Amino acid sequence: MDNRPIGFFDSGLGGLTSIPVLKEALPNEKVLYFGDTARTPYGSKQPDTIRRFARQITDYLVSKDVKMIVIACNTVTAMALELLREEHPDLPIFGVIEPTARRAAEESDEPIGIIGTKMTIASDIYAKEIRRFNPSAETHSLACPLFVPLIEEGITDHEIMDLTIRYYMDDFMKKYDIKRLILGCTHYPLIAKNLNRIYPEVKLYNSSAEVIKEVEAYLREHDMLAGPSSLPDRFYASDLSENFVRMTEQLFEGYDRKICLKKLED
Ligand code: DGL
Repeated sequence: MDNRPIGFFDSGLGGLTSIPVLKEALPNEKVLYFGDTARTPYGSKQPDTIRRFARQITDYLVSKDVKMIVIACNTVTAMALELLREEHPDLPIFGVIEPTARRAAEESDEPIGIIGTKMTIASDIYAKEIRRFNPSAETHSLACPLFVPLIEEGITDHEIMDLTIRYYMDDFMKKYDIKRLILGCTHYPLIAKNLNRIYPEVKLYNSSAEVIKEVEAYLREHDMLAGPSSLPDRFYASDLSENFVRMTEQLFEGYDRKICLKKLED
């Protein structure tokens, strides 16, 4: 048994979409979440910058004695997972890409669409991972850089979001006849409703949820599940944006939780 919290982080509020999935599977687990709202979005920044931010946040979570870290961000997973694992060999660190790629690769041979930030798509990491599990898989990737800023602003139930989706995706979906789509950004489950409405025949793979199955399996296998405790869940953000606070309050209503500002030194 291990009652220390699990550290989660993202460039902003996207990674929050993993937490209800964790709580549903493992209600005793406590969370220490960090959203880098002061510096979001990461997805169009250079790899060195993303790695520097990822290191700062990881060091902070380590200083808080987390039992493992979930990089609840595809962009950071693509740019920094290996580096962070090398730098913290004794700490289990999970990324969101491999579990999602494996699930989509193993499920069928139909073409797979992948949407994500500029850096995630430029890295081609999803296509490489998918082919590791299914060498004949057909993949098509598309960067949608305006999705994250709109979601961070809370502009989701609005025609601006629908128009932006159509602007990026309509031709892509048609051209490749996409019926299976990886949400290669943890912000995107927050627009799954819009995507389901606009492309009703398409199956979505949610990277925020897939990783939790691996976390659960690891904790069980290593006897590290948490027992009941009175620790609150903690949600830190480098800027307490209105939308971060609102979303955290809405998503975790009824939980004992703390929402705090935490600035990281550059
Ligand atoms: N949630 C992050 C991801 O999964 C968004 C990155 C960004 O800030 O652009 O890639």
